[in-house]
Amino acid sequence: MSAVTVSFNPNFKDMNLTRKRYRVFKGSAGSGKSVNVAQDYVIKLSDSRYKGANLLCIRKVNDTNRNSTYAELQAAINRIYGDQVDDYWDMPQSRLSIKHKSTGNEVIFRGVNDARDREKLKSINFAHGKLTWIWVEEATELQESDIDILDDRLRGILDNPNLYYQMTFTFNPVSATHWIKGKYFDTEHEDIITNHSTYLMNRFIDDAYHRRMMLRKERDPDGYKIYGLGEWGELGGTILSNYTVHDFDTSFAMFDSMTFGQDFGFNHANAILTVGFKDGEIFICNEIYVHEKDTGEIIALADGKLDKRIPMYCDSAEPDRIKTWRNAGYKASAVVKEPGSVNAQIDWLKKHKIHIHPSCSNTIKEMQQWKWKHDSKTNTYTDEPVNFFDDAMAALRYAVEGMRKGPTFEF
Ligand SMILES: Nc1ncnc2c1ncn2[C@@H]1O[C@H](COP(=O)(O)OP(=O)(O)OP(=O)(O)O)[C@@H](O)[C@H]1O
Ligand SMILES: [Mg+2]
Repeated sequence: MSAVTVSFNPNFKDMNLTRKRYRVFKGSAGSGKSVNVAQDYVIKLSDSRYKGANLLCIRKVNDTNRNSTYAELQAAINRIYGDQVDDYWDMPQSRLSIKHKSTGNEVIFRGVNDARDREKLKSINFAHGKLTWIWVEEATELQESDIDILDDRLRGILDNPNLYYQMTFTFNPVSATHWIKGKYFDTEHEDIITNHSTYLMNRFIDDAYHRRMMLRKERDPDGYKIYGLGEWGELGGTILSNYTVHDFDTSFAMFDSMTFGQDFGFNHANAILTVGFKDGEIFICNEIYVHEKDTGEIIALADGKLDKRIPMYCDSAEPDRIKTWRNAGYKASAVVKEPGSVNAQIDWLKKHKIHIHPSCSNTIKEMQQWKWKHDSKTNTYTDEPVNFFDDAMAALRYAVEGMRKGPTFEF
C-alpha cells in the first residue's frame, strides 16, 4: 500500500515497543488508551514479521465488544488504510471478526460473563498461527480469576521467533482496593510494564472535553480524581446496582409499553433513551447521546430512529425545546418536578430490574459512575446524587415517570 502516517500520542511509545508479557494502561477518561492500543494492534497484525500472531479482545460482557474493541479497531483500520481497506482487510461485521488478507492474522472477540463464556475460551483456534495477544478492555470489570484463565491460554512454543505472548489491559482506576492494583502496580516484576495517562497528555482531545472535565472537577471531585487525573480512587456510594448488560430484542412488539426519556443538554450531553417495560422490568433499548448539538440537529439525528407514536418525557426546564419536538411530530411533554421527586424516582428504579442493551455505551458508563454525594466531614454518603455525568440517568428517570406515577403530566 502507499505510505501512510499513523499518529500516536508519544507518551505510549514504550508501551507500544515492549514485549513484556503484561502491558497495563491505567488512565483517565479520554487519555487515548483505547485508540492507541487499537492502532498499535492494527499495525502489528498487518506486519509480515508478526505472521502467525492473533488477537483476542475481551470485555466482561461479550456484546459490548461491538461498540468498543471492534469499533475501535475498525476505526483505526479505516483511519490508517482509507480507501484501501478492502484490499488489505476482511471485516465482516455480521460475524464480528477481523482478518488481515496477506498476513492471515486475525482478531476475535469474547466475553467472560458466565460459565458458558469461559467454556468458549477453551476452544479458540485460528487458521494460521496461535493466540498470541489478548486485549482486555475496561479490565476492572473482570475478576482476577478471569484473567488467570486468559493468561493460561498464552502458552507453548511459537514457530515464528519474532512472536511473543502479551496481555494488554486498559481501564480507569476505579478503586484503590481493586485486585488489578495489587497484581500489577504494587508488585514490581520484570514481566510487567505499567503506564499512567490523562486526557491532558492526549494531543487529540478537543477544548469542549477540557471544559467538561473542569466542570467535573468542580462538581464531582472524587470522580475527577479517577476520570480526570487517572489516579486510584474509590467509587463508593453507587446509586444503582440492579442492572445487567445483555443483548435483547428491542422491537416495539416485545414490550407491554415503551417511552422515551429526554434530558436536554448542549455542553452536557443531550440524552434520549428508548425504554421498554415488560412484566415489571425495565429495558433500556437505545440511546441518543450527543454534545454541542442544537435541537434541530438532534431532531435530524432522531429521524427514522425514534418512533413518533411513543410518548417522550422531557426535562421541564426547557419548554421551548419541548415545543420544537412537538412541532416535529413527537409526543413530547414535560415531567413535573416536585420536591423529593428525584429520590422517589431513584427508589422506584431500585425496585425494578433494569436491562441495558450493549449498544447503550454512554448509559452503561453513567450507570457505573452514578453515585451519592460524599460528605468528607462525616465520611458518609448523603442522599443527594452527584450532579455530573448524569444526563442518561436523568433521561431514565423521566422515561419511567409514567410507570411510576400514572399519567400526571403537563401537556
Ligand atoms: N492517536 C490518536 N489519533 C487520533 N485521535 C485520537 C488518538 N488518540 C486519542 N484520540 C482522540 O481522543 C479520544 C479519546 O481517546 P480514547 O477513547 O482512546 O481514550 P481512553 O483513554 O480509551 O478513554 P476512556 O478511559 O474513557 O475509555 C478519541 O475518541 C479520539 O477522538
Ligand atoms: Mg477507552
